[in-house]
Amino acid sequence: MLLLGFHDYRDQAQRLAKALAIDYAEVAVHHFPDGESKVTLPAELDDDIIFCRSLDYPNNKLIELFLSCHVARQQGVKHITLVAPYLCYMRQDTDFHPGEAVSQRIIGHWLGELFDTVITVDPHLHRIDNLGQVILNTETITLSATGLMAEFLNKRPHPPLLLGPDSESEQWVKKIARQNELEWVVAKKERVGDHIVHIKLPEQDFSDRIVIIVDDVASTGRTIAQAAKELKKAGAQTVDCLITHPLFADDTEQVLANACISHVWSCDSISHNTNVIHLDQLIADAIKH
Ligand code: R5P
Repeated sequence: MLLLGFHDYRDQAQRLAKALAIDYAEVAVHHFPDGESKVTLPAELDDDIIFCRSLDYPNNKLIELFLSCHVARQQGVKHITLVAPYLCYMRQDTDFHPGEAVSQRIIGHWLGELFDTVITVDPHLHRIDNLGQVILNTETITLSATGLMAEFLNKRPHPPLLLGPDSESEQWVKKIARQNELEWVVAKKERVGDHIVHIKLPEQDFSDRIVIIVDDVASTGRTIAQAAKELKKAGAQTVDCLITHPLFADDTEQVLANACISHVWSCDSISHNTNVIHLDQLIADAIKH
């Protein structure tokens, strides 16, 4: 078995190959001046290969994976696994307005046509229960980073109160809290636009509490920032946050800093300077089993 990585997710892909004790090679990507991509794979491939690439900022990456799969199949590869710790397009899971594409379903179907196995970590499943409902006719393996996140929090000096900023986050907050026997609550969120979010905290005394906001994604950071501001208003002593997928679009770092968040921690599903939790062993164990 060979693991093929890409330059943008090299460290994590190399760690995964090491954890699996298999060879690592890289798909060379050239971007032409007009924005098109050319991919070059090793000239000879095994029957069974793994592509490891996380799908943040996904549009080019999807096309490059599509081209790479075609090359691999032409070379006679029989089984192609995609390891995409962050799986894109999962949040647009319904047509919120007439005429909107349900991207989750469309991209899911496409991945199902390309890959024999798709492995990911805590995808944003809200209106469906499992990935197999959108990635059809393909083995899907959904891993959760919550165990590792709980272990990380367990090392904190004082037991925090965990807050999920919206109803979707309940699934992750609850698991982490239960593993560590921590208190947890969930707020209500109303999203008015990409950059405007309203958060209503639950009935709870936050005064002098050490609170950690837990969410699967920080994209613009507005959800977490708004929750942090409300917590501070409610008297919280400190507010930190722990994120599975640190997308960090635009000015997110500044937005979180302005919201007086003391620490921002994340998993390395997406490379970012807040990464504190490595996912390679979790993924390697799943592949081995
Ligand atoms: C949505 O339900 C997700 O769980 C996140 O809360 C959301 O994507 C965060 O987005 P942003 O950082 O742009 O507020």
